[in-house]
Amino acid sequence: MLAWQAVGYGSPKDCLRLVSVPLPEPGTGELRLRVGAASLNPIDFKLLRGELRRVQALSFPVTLGFDASGIVDAVGPGASQFKLGDRVFVRASRDTLGAFAQYTVQPEAFVAMSPVRTSVVGAASLPLVALTTVQGLVDRAQARPGQRILIHAGSGGLGSFAIQYARWLGLQVDSTTSSRNVERVRAHGAHDVIAYDREDYAGRGRVYDIVFDTLGGGHTLKAFRVLKPGGCVVSVAGPPDREMIAKFGRNLVVRTVMQLMSRRVHAAARAGNARYFRYLTESNGAQLQAIAHLVDSGEVRPVVDRVFDFSDAVAAFDYLMSGHAQGKVILDMELRPVEE
Ligand SMILES: NC(=O)c1ccc[n+]([C@@H]2O[C@H](COP(=O)([O-])OP(=O)(O)OC[C@H]3O[C@@H](n4cnc5c(N)ncnc54)[C@H](OP(=O)(O)O)[C@@H]3O)[C@@H](O)[C@H]2O)c1
Repeated sequence: MLAWQAVGYGSPKDCLRLVSVPLPEPGTGELRLRVGAASLNPIDFKLLRGELRRVQALSFPVTLGFDASGIVDAVGPGASQFKLGDRVFVRASRDTLGAFAQYTVQPEAFVAMSPVRTSVVGAASLPLVALTTVQGLVDRAQARPGQRILIHAGSGGLGSFAIQYARWLGLQVDSTTSSRNVERVRAHGAHDVIAYDREDYAGRGRVYDIVFDTLGGGHTLKAFRVLKPGGCVVSVAGPPDREMIAKFGRNLVVRTVMQLMSRRVHAAARAGNARYFRYLTESNGAQLQAIAHLVDSGEVRPVVDRVFDFSDAVAAFDYLMSGHAQGKVILDMELRPVEE
């Protein structure tokens, strides 16, 4: 089969190769999927560029890719939840990467039946952003109906899903984007959209119960300036929280560096009597199945920006790396048949 493999740390152009590799066989509790479509996430290029080496070092060559949708094509011993031919979607874990290939093997615990109301492309767009949203807004922030949330980058892959999901939870949703995307973000369901090139959201004052920090950098600390006392910042791009330091701070030097990185954010949380979470998304087939039901009931929908042919993965990476995608970026295996 063909797979996009990283052969070292660096740019997609220099370090991604389309190669022929043996068809993987599913082990105990695993499924093999014939991939119909896969979606890109910023973590793919962050891994490729070596930005996450401290948390997840790669050993090369490695097939990248977290999100896939497709058909169950082989069932390993002991796997009992799915059968051959089922239409499924999956978010791979950091240990089972490999969605950017014609086939991928994944534990069945990570897999769910695809929503019937969306295409193979739509299904591939959902897993990582949907799980990230659920694990941030529900599992950590414990969002309740009526609370007010600021979701940054509402036009991006993550923000465009998070806005819809937050609305379904019954939250009052504000979101940031550039002025060219304001209407688009409103269409995702945001009550109020703040154009970052026209207004500084910090001017809104301490009005939010929750900030979903998808931007990081100075925005993580700034979140505490718009948070009500006792509020919650859930971040997927800011400095590590205590749990992450305990998990990934493998020696005193790394732990000390991580503590220094997050010192100011922890101080701001203490001062505001606020909670701060920084987390990595976990694969979870049960949560994914609940998302599929929400898609089928019309509560949330995939937001796909561009679809690239499987053979154009380098162009797809370059587009996502521009930082201005308006939804998800997809690799479609079926636009053009790929030679075995
Ligand atoms: N658990 C995790 O660790 C986890 C999980 C998922 C995502 N993430 C991280 O979350 C971040 C967002 O992911 P994504 O998939 O949404 O990325 P994305 O699709 O590449 O986001 C692009 C969007 O960001 C918007 N944007 C850029 N600068 C902005 C600013 N200053 N204010 C508001 N919006 C801005 C852009 O809008 P304009 O074009 O209008 O500027 C664009 O639509 C990434 O850093 C990703 O690695 C982490």
